[in-house]
Amino acid sequence: MPSFCVLFPAFCDGLREPDPSFNRELSALETLGIPWRVVNLDALRGGDLVKAFRFFGDAPSQPIIYRGWILHPEEFSNLVDALASRGCRTITTAENYRQALLFPEFYPAIADCSFPAVWIEGSDPVHALQAAQQLGPPPYFIKDHAKSAKEIWPHGCVVLDKKAMAPTIRALQDFREDQFEGGIVIRPLMRRRYIGESPFGGELFEEYRLFFFLGSLISLSAYDRIGGSGSSVPDCRFLSQRIDSPFFSADVVVCEDGRHYILEIGDGGSSALPPTLSPMEFYSAMERTLSQAGAA
Ligand SMILES: Nc1ncnc2c1ncn2[C@@H]1O[C@H](COP(=O)(O)OP(=O)(O)O)[C@@H](O)[C@H]1O
Ligand SMILES: [Mg+2]
Repeated sequence: MPSFCVLFPAFCDGLREPDPSFNRELSALETLGIPWRVVNLDALRGGDLVKAFRFFGDAPSQPIIYRGWILHPEEFSNLVDALASRGCRTITTAENYRQALLFPEFYPAIADCSFPAVWIEGSDPVHALQAAQQLGPPPYFIKDHAKSAKEIWPHGCVVLDKKAMAPTIRALQDFREDQFEGGIVIRPLMRRRYIGESPFGGELFEEYRLFFFLGSLISLSAYDRIGGSGSSVPDCRFLSQRIDSPFFSADVVVCEDGRHYILEIGDGGSSALPPTLSPMEFYSAMERTLSQAGAA
């Protein structure tokens, strides 16, 4: 009997199916016989729970693991409550989700193995520059409390001088729209180790993504389609003692001097699987870990 059920965002054009971005995960679940459900996130955001759960089907007997887009903490909390009222339990609680998603929540747990960071609530550039003084002079890297606008590098995340703070924050906000979370995080701009030009387009830097489930490290892979060797990554298993979440990711970046830093933590359910990570291996590892925890 499978020990968990996966909940995906429904595809906006075919509400009975998961969003096609999760097709590889879906086919792994089908192969492994792990049940799944869908929820209509737009309806959930709009507060229409009947519509949100229209194609959810019967309540699974197993606890639920959400795998989907990043939600605001209040949205995740609403999802947990709506599931509870249908007799379903999530493995990740609303509190766990906040702790792994929000920079100010997880940063203290990684500060000694990350590079410096300061943050503000809201998006006032004067306030951001005041806070940034603790870091020394620019250049800085900025993001909101959950995500950056790395897709529009450099103008949405790199602050080369003080006068660039205001337009960069504006570009970040415009890019993130209603996904913008909390406030601004400011960090020194680090020199990442360049791996080369990607055949898929763009520059590649050495980064890794780790997933932890129920206190165990279940996967470690290069972040991108091409990457370095995971065996070079220092042992990060201590993180499971520090992050109050049963399911989270940790990203490790390598800088030009060869040092590894923990860049950020993420909620395991809303962190993308790196392209080289096989969803079959990922879900098998989760299944194994949960059955062992159940047996213990
Ligand atoms: N301080 C920094 N200096 C240089 N590059 C950075 C810095 N912080 C993040 N990056 C780069 O930007 C990318 C996105 O930053 P990250 O903090 O992971 O935000 P996101 O939540 O959008 O993934 C990282 O994968 C890393 O390559
Ligand atoms: Mg990241």
